[in-house]
Amino acid sequence: MSVRTIEVAPDVSGPGLDRCLNGAAAALADGRLVAFPTETVYGLGADAMSATAVEGIFAAKGRPADNPLIVHLPDPAWLDRVAVTTPLAARLAEAHWPGPMTLVLQARPEVPTITVAGLGTVAVRVPDSAIARRLIELAGTPVAAPSANRSGRPSPTTAQHVLADLADHLAWVVDGGPCDLGIESTVVDARGTVPVVLREGMVTREMLGVTGEEAGETERSPGTRHAHYQPRAEVRIAPPGEGMALAGALASGGRRVGAVVGHRGSVPSGVTVLATVEDGEGLAKRLYAALREADERGLDVVVVEAVSEAGVGRAVMDRLRRAAG
Ligand code: TXA
Ligand code: MG
Repeated sequence: MSVRTIEVAPDVSGPGLDRCLNGAAAALADGRLVAFPTETVYGLGADAMSATAVEGIFAAKGRPADNPLIVHLPDPAWLDRVAVTTPLAARLAEAHWPGPMTLVLQARPEVPTITVAGLGTVAVRVPDSAIARRLIELAGTPVAAPSANRSGRPSPTTAQHVLADLADHLAWVVDGGPCDLGIESTVVDARGTVPVVLREGMVTREMLGVTGEEAGETERSPGTRHAHYQPRAEVRIAPPGEGMALAGALASGGRRVGAVVGHRGSVPSGVTVLATVEDGEGLAKRLYAALREADERGLDVVVVEAVSEAGVGRAVMDRLRRAAG
């Protein structure tokens, strides 16, 4: 099967957007796999209500069967199709949808067991990407979509990353350019009366009104237990401001070194600067692409400067520590 790619410019809307997306939407409705952009990372989509279609996702990714998928909706009004809502969910949806927040709720029986890995709960999100929402709307069915990488690889933030991992498995890739945010959504259990954060993300604990540290320490998303975000190169975390010195020291020992640092300054010989980032948002946007580039260049080690753990920084540092193993 050869994959078809369609580029969608950010300013396309209305009938022009539909013309771009019709082929990919028809493939989704037909039970095939379609990769598409969201504001966080690219998703590997299939009809969430078809067990056979969803099987294709697990096979293509090499994903463990005990790791459930996020079901994507074009509009909060579709929530009743897949989940039992709660007053807390309604409040969070009102505040953060469309956007990088996923809610875990009790699943409707119509959702196939494989989509939710037999859990009885379902993770749902309305992405803040007009392309993603329109694609799902045209397909006419909720769309299950994990990040569109082979299991264990960094999540894709461009269509090229998706093709590098999954080209042989896809009917279509919708190319909407680089993702705006760069790390995955916050996963929140919204079945109770207070939000419980299962995976850190761009919607921060502060934004959710979660104050205590207790929630989330013991409860984690199934996916956060698996090895994740690991490039072939070794990943080393440096304190702020000390990245270039560490990179230089490693390079002088004969290793091929990549650096993701706050300020460029002078670059020691043997060091490739993969990205310069100013803050947590900047690191979120560039981290996965830098890790993939390190592997493409055959580097031995990537030094990444830590950012402050406040707000979004907490989610980025969580991903960075996983990448460092
Ligand atoms: O931003 C994102 O969330 C991206 C884009 C494509 O939407 N998707 C994404 O999917 O990151 P994935 O499959 O890579 O991560 C989904 C996470 C996993 O940690 C999974 O265990 C968790 O959500 N999850 C899914 N269903 C769940 C459930 N019923 N209960 C608890 N956690 C769940
Ligand atoms: Mg993933």
